[in-house]
Amino acid sequence: MATPAIDVQNLTKSYGPVLAVDNISFQVQPGELVGFLGPNGAGKSTSMRILTTWQPASSGYARLAGFDVMYESMEVRKRIGYLPENVPVYPEMRVREYLTYRAKLKGVERQGRTARIDYCLEKCRIKEVQNRLLATLSKGYRQRVGLADAMLANPPILILDEPTSGLDPVQINETLGTIKELGGQHTVLLSTHILSEVEKVCERVIIINKGQIKFDDTMKSISSREPTLIVEVRGPSEAVTRFLQEQQELASVAATTTEGDATTFEIKTRNPEKDFRDELAKRVLGRGWGVRRLDLRRVNLDDLFSAVVLREPAAPAPAVVATSEPTPTPAA
Ligand SMILES: Nc1ncnc2c1ncn2[C@@H]1O[C@H](COP(=O)(O)OP(=O)(O)O)[C@@H](O)[C@H]1O
Ligand SMILES: [Mg+2]
Repeated sequence: MATPAIDVQNLTKSYGPVLAVDNISFQVQPGELVGFLGPNGAGKSTSMRILTTWQPASSGYARLAGFDVMYESMEVRKRIGYLPENVPVYPEMRVREYLTYRAKLKGVERQGRTARIDYCLEKCRIKEVQNRLLATLSKGYRQRVGLADAMLANPPILILDEPTSGLDPVQINETLGTIKELGGQHTVLLSTHILSEVEKVCERVIIINKGQIKFDDTMKSISSREPTLIVEVRGPSEAVTRFLQEQQELASVAATTTEGDATTFEIKTRNPEKDFRDELAKRVLGRGWGVRRLDLRRVNLDDLFSAVVLREPAAPAPAVVATSEPTPTPAA
């Protein structure tokens, strides 16, 4: 098998008593576009700072394109583009000037440098501000300059920390479009706390909460999980339950709520390929009971996110003030 683009093993990072990243492991294969999803404070940025060599882990290791982030950090830096959460740009520089400076730093060959900068300006839709001072740009524009910077040297791996934060809905769609195009030719790990962004562009999602990986699967596999039938039947609750449990085609029947004389059931069928709704309604009605509701609910990211994140009680706020970790200077 090819060397994974990203290989993380038992990575842990604590800031004093705060365990920001708690023993996470995952791999990303070349060309994959993976969403790193989690609520604020989950540990996304900390993980990304370790992967991009800006911060040491407390334990565990990470290899990017086969190079260790701790011991071969320069080799790693040559192969990654990093968009940090807060884009560190030189406020007194103009956009194009800044990208030219960064392209030189990253060793983008003189021949083709102008064309590459033009390409990135265009892809990130910042051509119209190329002569503006960075200090005068809105957060959304600065974010896009950061994305252009990350793409400049055409690195095989892109680590993008909340690339859409600060953008308006139109800009979010445009930026997600750009990132989707980057997938395929590049390996992309993109963090977000917004579910719909992952659904729109990512092939795979890793959900992180309180420093731990709670879920890791492809979008394709999520959508092919067996659906749940939600049926609300008006009739004697016990008799209805027994009747449903007797039906050969049903794998599991669980009563969820009872309201007056109606009970709601969540049902899994034995053959998820076959839509069993019509037949089920017919049989229930045949017993003289009423069907108030009958839905087919496919598993989606919302359900998964709720299941792994919202279900957990909120952590008490840590009683420490942030230690002084250096803000990353722009990556070479
Ligand atoms: N420099 C730091 N000093 C102390 N605690 C930190 C520091 N950076 C992050 N944390 C804490 O680590 C946890 C994870 O933060 P972070 O990685 O920024 O999460 P996310 O990017 O998912 O919002 C949070 O509890 C946060 O308060
Ligand atoms: Mg963050």
